[in-house]
Amino acid sequence: MRAQFNVPSTILVGAGTSQQLGAQATRLGGRRALLVTDATMVATGLAKSCVEQLTSANIATTVFSNVQPDPTDTNVRDGLALLRRDDCDLVVGVGGGSPMDAAKVIAVAATNDAPIREFAGYHRIPRAGLPLILIPTTAGTGSEVTKAAVITDTEREVKMMMLDGHLLASVALVDFELSLSMPASLTAHVGVDTFTHGLEAYVSRKANALTDPLAEQCVRLTAANLHTAWTEPGNRTAREAMMLAACVGGMAFANSSVCLVHGMSRPIGAIFHPAHGLSNALLLPEITRWSLRGAVSRYAHVARIINAATGDATDEAASAALPGYLERLNASLGIGRLREFIKADFNVFESKLAAMAEAALASGSPQNNPVVPTAEEIVELYRKVW
Ligand SMILES: NC(=O)c1ccc[n+]([C@@H]2O[C@H](COP(=O)([O-])OP(=O)(O)OC[C@H]3O[C@@H](n4cnc5c(N)ncnc54)[C@H](O)[C@@H]3O)[C@@H](O)[C@H]2O)c1
Ligand SMILES: [Fe+2]
Repeated sequence: MRAQFNVPSTILVGAGTSQQLGAQATRLGGRRALLVTDATMVATGLAKSCVEQLTSANIATTVFSNVQPDPTDTNVRDGLALLRRDDCDLVVGVGGGSPMDAAKVIAVAATNDAPIREFAGYHRIPRAGLPLILIPTTAGTGSEVTKAAVITDTEREVKMMMLDGHLLASVALVDFELSLSMPASLTAHVGVDTFTHGLEAYVSRKANALTDPLAEQCVRLTAANLHTAWTEPGNRTAREAMMLAACVGGMAFANSSVCLVHGMSRPIGAIFHPAHGLSNALLLPEITRWSLRGAVSRYAHVARIINAATGDATDEAASAALPGYLERLNASLGIGRLREFIKADFNVFESKLAAMAEAALASGSPQNNPVVPTAEEIVELYRKVW
């Protein structure tokens, strides 16, 4: 086996760990921080409490709170301008995957002169970025522990996938208490995203002995806790388990790979703008059904550990139970069909499919799928999930 495994060198997990922001920023030697966040975090007061912590640690802080869901190149440029104006030497990202990804790319854009479009792809960022602290509030993308970032190129309507060790946080503060405020639909969407990270990491052609246990833990925790977190938003045990699932799922997929679900999901997001987790969820059952034959025993193993199949089921029977399980999971979380969630009719959708299939393949993710699709097969799969 040959594998490369990158995670942040410091990960603090548990209730209240976000209170370590000031201490960790001091440890990193920050004098002036750029806090990258969004409007919700300002409204809930979390941004203010981060500023207070940093101020108490004698770290002056500039707040950039204009990150939009599915962050864009424009968001990165605007944040970078503030960072340069105030000469910040530390970046803190607080929020869901969107502010965290924007923070990651701002931190490397500060030290690399190339246009960010050139960072898209694998290991394309020449120099390390500024020290970076990430604090997730969704459970979640796992972005706080991944070396990946997704930024929309607004001119080309493409979600650029960047994967590079320089995108890793120096410190991740993984505090499930920050996720207690998630509304039900967000809990569902980010939770199925988490499950997808675990499943895709496990069946990926790049799965390895370091990522397998993390991927297994991710799907196990998600299957056992997502529905409870959705029905009982104040359930601390379920929220804690989901935050852990997101964190280990992030470590797994970033060091294995996501596959066809994520590959096909990004073009839907770039053009029609359903939330990232939702568009994954809408694809997950059908893409899994199509991919089963490429990794029967791996899908069967997942089906057994999430109790979608009994321990004594054959690999064929256990793996075949998975798509139906995923359809029922979606239904139990109020997630229906793609056509219900995008504001376009079928003709518009159809007219974009060739370009979407091309963008999916260009991202590199489908090539790690147990069965590698052609562009025509991707178009056909898009039609099926509509
Ligand atoms: N870098 C990675 O490894 C990675 C992995 C998966 C997804 N992503 C990216 O992450 C982005 C999606 O992130 P996300 O799904 O976490 O959502 P998000 O960050 O886009 O947030 C969605 C909405 O939920 C709100 N929100 C966040 N936390 C909340 C809370 N605790 N309570 C109430 N509201 C809250 C936000 O303000 C926003 O309005 C996408 O751009 C996706 O491509 C990145
Ligand atoms: Fe994802």
